[in-house]
Amino acid sequence: MIASRLIVDSDFAISDLDRRVFGSFVEHMGRCVYTGIYEPGHPTADENGFRRDVMELTRELGPTIIRYPGGNFMSGYNWEDGVGPKEDRPVRLDLAWFSKETNQFGTNEFMDWCKKVDIEPMFGVNLGTRGPDEARHFLEYCNHPGGTALSDQRRAHGYEQPHDIKFWCLGNEMDGPWQICRKTADEYGRIAQETGKLMRMVDPTIQLSACGSSMWDMPTYGTWEDTVLDHCFEQVDFLSLHSYFMNPHDSTEEYFGNIELTDNFIKQTVAIADAVAARKRSAKRIMLSFDEWNVWYKARSIEDLRKPGWPVAPRLIEEVYNYEDALVVGGALITLMNNSDRVKVACLAQLVNVIGPIMTEPGGPAWRQTIFYPFSQASRFGHGRVLRPVIDSPSYQAKTFDEIPYLCASVVDDEASGRTTIFALNRHLEEDMELKVELRGLGTDRVVEEAIELFNSNMKAINTKDTPNAVAPTYNADVRIEGETLIAKLKPGSWNVLVTRATK
Ligand code: AHR
Repeated sequence: MIASRLIVDSDFAISDLDRRVFGSFVEHMGRCVYTGIYEPGHPTADENGFRRDVMELTRELGPTIIRYPGGNFMSGYNWEDGVGPKEDRPVRLDLAWFSKETNQFGTNEFMDWCKKVDIEPMFGVNLGTRGPDEARHFLEYCNHPGGTALSDQRRAHGYEQPHDIKFWCLGNEMDGPWQICRKTADEYGRIAQETGKLMRMVDPTIQLSACGSSMWDMPTYGTWEDTVLDHCFEQVDFLSLHSYFMNPHDSTEEYFGNIELTDNFIKQTVAIADAVAARKRSAKRIMLSFDEWNVWYKARSIEDLRKPGWPVAPRLIEEVYNYEDALVVGGALITLMNNSDRVKVACLAQLVNVIGPIMTEPGGPAWRQTIFYPFSQASRFGHGRVLRPVIDSPSYQAKTFDEIPYLCASVVDDEASGRTTIFALNRHLEEDMELKVELRGLGTDRVVEEAIELFNSNMKAINTKDTPNAVAPTYNADVRIEGETLIAKLKPGSWNVLVTRATK
């Protein structure tokens, strides 16, 4: 057994946790929309054609904000195609995913769906094939109360009240050679600045996010952020980060290094954004929107990315997640929470079928993938202030990262309910960990309210349609309180959520 200490103090908080870090993403890609959230004719479909089984799982997963309509799809999308009578909507070629887009689901359907599941929408505008004019018109259609051609068009479509969509992404991954109408950093920065300017004229209450690099290892990472922000610093509130974790050595220990790399990525991007602020003698701080992140390395072949014949809703990147993927997703959530002073929004990409925590069969069942669990628990218990964790743990060396502590943890304290929640990963693959958590100044006469453990002796275990509960959380009975200290035994290679409350 190894031993680790985790110390937090009520006086030392990183930040209030913005609940939007538990966001997700719905793209018109593969089967995320069609046969994912929307399937008229499915036995559980409601009057709108929304799958009730998927809505129930979405509520249980607990995303707080959902990005829409892409992704790469965004850069070729005409929003006008997806509004108005369904029989009049055009079928188009989607050049991002070589599919046919029927447009039977669009902005208003997404807003209806968001209302039903009680989730905030996050929209993106097309800065690939289109630009500022389309963006301001789209916003006017969505958010202007009425009395103009576009806002009255929305009302005529059955939406009397404005949608009041607050968060807007200025394009998607505009640095990527795969992007429809990719731009240089100067081209994009200028367009983002001018588009943001017009959008704020239409609705000054919105928040805007500019595209950062599409991944950390893009050769232009750093200079892209610097140049883009140099142009649009005054107009934007957020800069985006995207990251998909790989497991190239098929080694769990190496794979865990993604968690440290994500922390580095965030801190380096903050440094770049703050350098731009310094150059501009500005006190403004750009916040981060980590609006695409997940594990994605198995379903990456050309067959996973593209099916011949321009099909409608083909099976694209339907990654099947195993147990070790759930541990890495848990570790990434810990990193997002521990950077809550600058990461205010984050989206697990995507929600259903396409690298999704929820899987469905057309006409058939829906089930939870392994990664569903750490996300749903973090969203359920991640309320309040994130405390600065001091970690004293043995560590190991890996190729991906020099020094990886076996303990990876975050502590969130909710003054309103008196609950303090510890999210902890034991990254030792053979040894139990005795974890002592000193909860300084957080109240006394503590009780343990929940002790949830995700553990499987097989790192490659998966959930399928026929075995949907092969990987599922259980309770950890080995947790006790001694004074201000919580003491728990964590299984080797396990994810744990320990909820404790001071009664005095
Ligand atoms: O989430 C899948 C794709 O990955 C998105 O469309 C794109 O933004 C990213 O490259």
